Amino acid sequence: MVSQPKDIVMTDRLRIAIVGASGYTGVELARILVAHPRVDWIAAVGRSSVGRKLADDLPSLRGVVDLEVEAFDAASLARRTDAVFCALPHGQSAPIVDELRGHGLTVLDLSADFRLRDREIYEQWYGPHAAPERLAEAVYGLVELSRERLKTADLIAVPGCYPTASILAVAPLLRAELVSPEGLVIDAKSGVSGAGRSPSRAAHLPECAGGVRAYKVGGAHRHIPEIEAALSEISGVALRVTFTPHLVPMTRGILSTVYATAANPALDAEACTEAARALYADSPSVVVLDPGASPDTLAVRGSNRAHLSYAVDGRTGRVIAQAAIDNLVKGAAGQAVQCLNVRFGLSEGLGLPAVAVWP
Ligand SMILES: NC(=O)c1ccc[n+]([C@@H]2O[C@H](COP(=O)([O-])OP(=O)(O)OC[C@H]3O[C@@H](n4cnc5c(N)ncnc54)[C@H](OP(=O)(O)O)[C@@H]3O)[C@@H](O)[C@H]2O)c1
Repeated sequence: MVSQPKDIVMTDRLRIAIVGASGYTGVELARILVAHPRVDWIAAVGRSSVGRKLADDLPSLRGVVDLEVEAFDAASLARRTDAVFCALPHGQSAPIVDELRGHGLTVLDLSADFRLRDREIYEQWYGPHAAPERLAEAVYGLVELSRERLKTADLIAVPGCYPTASILAVAPLLRAELVSPEGLVIDAKSGVSGAGRSPSRAAHLPECAGGVRAYKVGGAHRHIPEIEAALSEISGVALRVTFTPHLVPMTRGILSTVYATAANPALDAEACTEAARALYADSPSVVVLDPGASPDTLAVRGSNRAHLSYAVDGRTGRVIAQAAIDNLVKGAAGQAVQCLNVRFGLSEGLGLPAVAVWP
């Protein structure tokens, strides 16, 4: 069922809660929402941190946020809030989202639980789904490509970080039929915060600080079906991608480099750049750099911006599309707030950091 846009008059403020507030995307939501001019953040929900002051676990909030972490109670949140951000691990999120939706709340889910429409594909990659009947209700929240649908969505599946960068980079080329949908290769690099706050050996400082390595090589990363679903919808054919993620020794940032075969041997970088600028003309979060420029994760760190660029290797007939984002902002929390803004009729970039923390 499609619901109607909620009427927010200019004086209204949105009351929101964050479930999973003490994680990395949770704290990034907090950073953005405390400065958002139209939002009152009134509840932080957790599990192991219940009863503690949120700022005790998140030192960057000390002296700014005085909320105590509360246990999840959908009925209580429904009485007090208009919308809820869920920043929970996949699998944990679906039952909580289901309950919140059962109480009529608008939910913005940062996990993968509602990003795939096809239950079978979800279960193949993630295991059993706790609320499959809600999959059809969810709208994929890549704002630049689904702005209209988001205006009436009450369950928004905020895209993953690698998919955000990769889809934004290649979507204009597929949409304008400048490249073949066959044989796309995505080489992507992520900072360590992409793995979340729970300590793991892969993210242990001595084991990642001095080197760069690929992981989940050979079609094994869970973001593959999400990228394929979005790009298949754009191109109109069921395409497959080769996707190799890498862990690089930095805290934040994703650089995604997509290799695609030019549909026409005369294609040049200017035409690719023009197609991207046309598609993203009304998208304040996307900046298409001039041909020859190299997107840099440092130039978007802390901002809700995606920097894109295009080059063509005339010798091989391959287009090289690149995107740099901050995985925690445009790749997660910032994008979620961008979705909230669109959903509630606010200006799309309201409250979102536009300038990076650079250098
Ligand atoms: N990190 C990224 O770059 C990134 C980017 C895009 C999307 N995402 C997705 O966003 C989601 C959150 O990621 P993250 O990196 O922020 O994870 P995280 O740092 O591991 O934090 C997850 C939080 O969820 C809370 N939690 C877990 N189970 C819960 C439950 N049943 N009820 C209430 N709270 C619960 C925990 O709170 P307590 O401390 O109170 O137990 C924890 O703080 C994941 O699905 C992830 O895939 C992450």
